[in-house]
Amino acid sequence: MKRIAILTAGGDTPALNATIFGAVVRANQHRVEVYGLIKGFSALLNPRGPHVHLNPLLMPIPELDPTMGGTLIGASRTYLSGDDPACIKEIAGRLERLGIEGLICIGGDGTLNGMVPLTEKLPTVLAPKTIDNDLGLNYRNEPDEWSRVLCQGAPGYRYERMPARTKFDLEQMVNYVTPGYATAVFVSASGLQRIRTTAESHRRIAIVEVMGRHSGYIALGASYGQPDILLVPEHRVCMDPLVERIKEIYDLQKHVMIVCAEGVIDEKGEPLGAENPTYDPAGQVVLSGAAETLRELLVRRLGDAYFLERRRNESARAAIFTRKLGHTQRGGRPILFDRNYAAELGGQAVEMLLDGRYNAVAVLQWNRQRGFHLDGIAGNDFRDRYGVIHARNMHSSFYDPECMRPSRVGIDYLLPIFTGAIGAEDTGVQRHEVFDPGNLMRSYHSVNADIHKRIRYLE
Ligand code: F6P
Repeated sequence: MKRIAILTAGGDTPALNATIFGAVVRANQHRVEVYGLIKGFSALLNPRGPHVHLNPLLMPIPELDPTMGGTLIGASRTYLSGDDPACIKEIAGRLERLGIEGLICIGGDGTLNGMVPLTEKLPTVLAPKTIDNDLGLNYRNEPDEWSRVLCQGAPGYRYERMPARTKFDLEQMVNYVTPGYATAVFVSASGLQRIRTTAESHRRIAIVEVMGRHSGYIALGASYGQPDILLVPEHRVCMDPLVERIKEIYDLQKHVMIVCAEGVIDEKGEPLGAENPTYDPAGQVVLSGAAETLRELLVRRLGDAYFLERRRNESARAAIFTRKLGHTQRGGRPILFDRNYAAELGGQAVEMLLDGRYNAVAVLQWNRQRGFHLDGIAGNDFRDRYGVIHARNMHSSFYDPECMRPSRVGIDYLLPIFTGAIGAEDTGVQRHEVFDPGNLMRSYHSVNADIHKRIRYLE
């Protein structure tokens, strides 16, 4: 292969530039040119095929900084549809005119679903990313546990999952962790520690909502911030034991910190937050409002008298507050763990293309003997019997529903990722860059302005 392309699809994550950098460095070693496609799959749908040459003279362009969050080539939630063969044919023609012989898509489950129509046209490899850590499998045959059940309304069926295998070994996980997750957890745990002091000083109950869609990995990792109560989507929120636990903690320490994953569900299995579909072939939703709903429930269950009697607050509404950590979890500089493994996965994706792997995924594996190491698996290994990829849920054994905390298995899962996840440069950056006096005098210079000068179009 002489020239490959790379794109970033779906929501941004902190380590996308690191993955692109790793891919470009490896491509340079193999003397392969890399074109960055602008704004994910939308570049392919655009007849002008906007792109940037990321390694002219086989050197990475200076704008490609692996320590920068976001993506220098832009991202979008635009995906391709396999139902439009004429469009796919046009795209294949465009790629051919660009001289592209292989494609790396950096993305999550939506991207893996979305790249399917292209995999029959050219070698395509996914380099994983997602802060939600939901691209992967808890064990090899997990997709077989999904089946379709007929129901009213389009498309006439819904997906249901057989009860998951309850016991498994961490070493069986496929794609143990995805780039972006460690940084999101770093932000969440630090955010909790900061919010805690307000709850503590003002005798309040804080409900902090973290991202992750229907997977509780970010919430689990946020346990490093020592919340008193952790609520994850994989276990229903049962109000009676929750209220009892809150009272126990509040009576003792005069405040409570609750971490609530955005995808938590109630006793009936209904999401506490509202769901809005995004344009994504994995049927992704944007969730919002779980913490607010929980707050309303607690205001009603605890009532004003509970706080007044203890002389701790004038009402339940004044005492219980919510905060969403929101997009801070996705933004900014990736921490060392993410930078390193994102770059390695980028390099691995290039190797896989050059090895002639079609429709495959570069994965990060972990076992007790070797620690983290790279591998590659077929894209189909992630698909259920109907060809659909489901977001990975956190295995239910990672959580102890009685104590509302991570279980021993959950803790064992986190340790290899986070012990040593922050590098000396990460703390150095805080010391030298946050209060750099120059920040007050210079306005922000966006990489978009520089990349715009480099964008080329098909003739
Ligand atoms: O999938 C990543 C993620 O950040 C989720 O955790 C979150 O629900 C969603 O994306 C938010 O999407 P958007 O950036 O479109 O608001």
